[in-house]
Amino acid sequence: MAKRGGESKMNGDSGAAPGAAFRTEEDRALDLSLRPRTLDEFVGQVRPRQILGMSIEAARKRGEVLDHVLFSGPPGLGKTSLAHIIARELGVSIRVTAGPAIERAGDLAAIVANLEEGDVLFIDEIHRLARVVEEILYPAMEDFRLNIVVGKGPGAHLMPLAVKPFTLVGATTRAGLLSAPLRDRFGQHYHLDFYGREELAEIVCRSARLLGMRIDNEGASELASRSRGTPRIVNRLLRRVRDYAEVHDAAIVDRRIALEALALLDIDACGFDRMDRAILGAIIDMFDGGPVGVESLAAAVGEEPDTIEEVYEPYLLQEGFIARTARGRMATQRAYTHLGRTRRGALL
Ligand SMILES: Nc1ncnc2c1ncn2[C@@H]1O[C@H](COP(=O)(O)OP(=O)(O)OP(=O)(O)O)[C@@H](O)[C@H]1O
Ligand SMILES: [Mg+2]
Repeated sequence: MAKRGGESKMNGDSGAAPGAAFRTEEDRALDLSLRPRTLDEFVGQVRPRQILGMSIEAARKRGEVLDHVLFSGPPGLGKTSLAHIIARELGVSIRVTAGPAIERAGDLAAIVANLEEGDVLFIDEIHRLARVVEEILYPAMEDFRLNIVVGKGPGAHLMPLAVKPFTLVGATTRAGLLSAPLRDRFGQHYHLDFYGREELAEIVCRSARLLGMRIDNEGASELASRSRGTPRIVNRLLRRVRDYAEVHDAAIVDRRIALEALALLDIDACGFDRMDRAILGAIIDMFDGGPVGVESLAAAVGEEPDTIEEVYEPYLLQEGFIARTARGRMATQRAYTHLGRTRRGALL
């Protein structure tokens, strides 16, 4: 699994991987203070937002419990924010847990048994639920029933226990790793895509307002275009730029201040940081452009394979800097051009 944020690596550290989307310790507070609270405050993801808004309203009007919801997509795009928004819009409580945190089936049974009618149970990293734990969820999701094992050995039997109807909201960066029976039990599945530049500029302006700082349109647009389509990154860059502006006595973040700060952070024109460039450079220089398997690539750049797959690769793929083939990852012409390299054997 991905080191969630290489958290130990970045604790109290000032500058590591400012462009990576995984959540670091210092993001936690920022995530919380800048998190959109309502669907209206949530920028972008227009279709998921519309459909979700409609089903929330319908459930509320009918006085019914909302169908279970699954959010998938790369880190930092708003899955956790949406889970909290759902509970808020429904006017119910939310119970938050995560796949790796639930060790035994009984732990999950206890959580589910304690939910009030209509509550949201949010399971982050749901693809990391243990199999035995997952199986508790099937009847709970389908019939709001827990099958409790009573007794031991040959005399053991299942005793069904009714629970109050609830909404399960699951979030995952790896929808492909979810088992089919679990995935099928979600009534709604939304895949979040990377954000456009204008949406990110809107997010950064809102965040600047909340942080009590001034940024002009050009400054906001510069940050937006270098944040890998990711709200968490744009907020993180904004905070670093705020520090930079403060130290340099700039009253407002304009294009010049933004560019100077981004250069200091080693974020390039595509929003790539050192690790992104290391990945592209390794495919080109060490593996002759690829194809290369994720394990070899990870060893070459000194990063976990899962982190490469979950955090770095999705954006490089979407932007066409790498291509995935059956035999591994390959660098595309864009990658060569971006790093200023020439393809071996290419016509000059
Ligand atoms: N649509 C949005 N509008 C405004 N801000 C957003 C939006 N989506 C995300 N953010 C900001 O980015 C931060 C990170 O979002 P969030 O924690 O919801 O991402 P996530 O998908 O759960 O990431 P992870 O996979 O790492 O858990 C939020 O706290 C919020 O500040
Ligand atoms: Mg999250």
